[in-house]
Formats: sequence, structure tokens, C-alpha cells
Amino acid sequence: MDDRREFLRQAGLGAALLLLSPPARAEEEDEVSPTEDLMREHGVLRRILLVYGESARRLDGNQPLPAGTLERAAQLVRAFVEDYHERDEEEFVFPPLRKAGKLGDLIATLIAQHQAGRKLTAEIQKLAPQSASSRKPLAHALRQFIRMYEPHAAREDTVLFPAFAGVVGKKELARLQELFEKKEQALPLGNFEKMVDEVAKLEQSLGIYELAQFTP
Ligand SMILES: [Fe+2]
Ligand SMILES: [Fe+2]
Repeated sequence: MDDRREFLRQAGLGAALLLLSPPARAEEEDEVSPTEDLMREHGVLRRILLVYGESARRLDGNQPLPAGTLERAAQLVRAFVEDYHERDEEEFVFPPLRKAGKLGDLIATLIAQHQAGRKLTAEIQKLAPQSASSRKPLAHALRQFIRMYEPHAAREDTVLFPAFAGVVGKKELARLQELFEKKEQALPLGNFEKMVDEVAKLEQSLGIYELAQFTP
């Protein structure tokens, strides 16, 4: 009888813990400020740039590229970076800065670069199913993309986002935090965590996933 009571007590405790733990965890994940959210999206972009860089190196050296890697990388850029991340910047980050009369020239350049990036992505998607003659222009497009987005993302991280956080109030930041999270969960190819998994797979297919291999 005592055993049975003890079992029920433990089972009850276990069930209570199960009920408690998932929402507690979900809440922790939600606590990402809008600027931190945008910055970790840059992290995904930077990892795609590594995939592009390794691909360009192989194209130059006439080394084989795993089938579908570049197509998939460009697809992630389109869906996650261009149709999501950059849209959020254009819709929610640039306008309040402009209204406050701040960073007008920088914002004009960033918008022009978003447009140039979309053209390069279309070019990369067109050339990615390679033939011998497309290797050179494809490598060139990949390098142009890397050359532009490394400084683009770095400037946003260090200048644009801090200025943005300075002009919008806490209330608007909290609203955006929720909005970004909702939008992210509705993305066609998946949320941030899914993008990190996808980009890791691409790195693995190119042999650049193991971080320790880069330690000098
Ligand atoms: Fe941007
Ligand atoms: Fe950005």
C-alpha cells in the first residue's frame, strides 16, 4: 500500500514537472531583443558566406562541388536573408531612424545593397547548376556577394542597430520582439534554429563544419 502511494506521489510530481517545463523553456527562448535577433540572423548569413567562399575556391581550382549545395545555399539566402531579415530592416529599422533624421546616407547604401544582393542571388541561382562555362562567372558572383555582405552586416551590427535601439522606445522594442518571433515561426523554410541546422549541413557537405580544423 505504501509503495503504491509513493508511486502515485512520484508520478504526480513527474507529471507536474512535465507540465511546468515546456512553457518555462519556451519563454526563455523568446527573450531575444529585436537587435539581437537581427544580429544572430547575420550569424546565419555569415555562415552562408563561408559556404559561398569555399564553393568559389573549389570552382576556381576545378574541384568538384557536391550537387545541390549552392542551390540550397542560395535558396536559404532568398527565403531567410532577403525575404525575411532584410524586409524587417526595411520595414521596421530604417523608417524610425529616417524619421529621427539619422544615418540617411548609410540607409540609402544599405537599401541599394539589398537590391544588388537580390540580383546576385538570382544570378547565382541561374548559374549554380554548373556547366564548365559557368564556373568562372559563378565564382565571380559568389565573391561579389561575399565582398558586399561582410561589410554590410558588420556596419549594421556596429552602427545601424545601436542607433536604432537608441531612437525607438522600450515599448516599440517589446512589440517588435514579439512580432519578429511570430514572423520567424511562420517562415516557409523554417525558423532560426532550423536555418542553423540547414547551414551546418551545407558546411558538412563541403568539409568546413569542424571548427577545430581552423585553429592554427
Ligand atoms: Fe541589411
Ligand atoms: Fe542585416
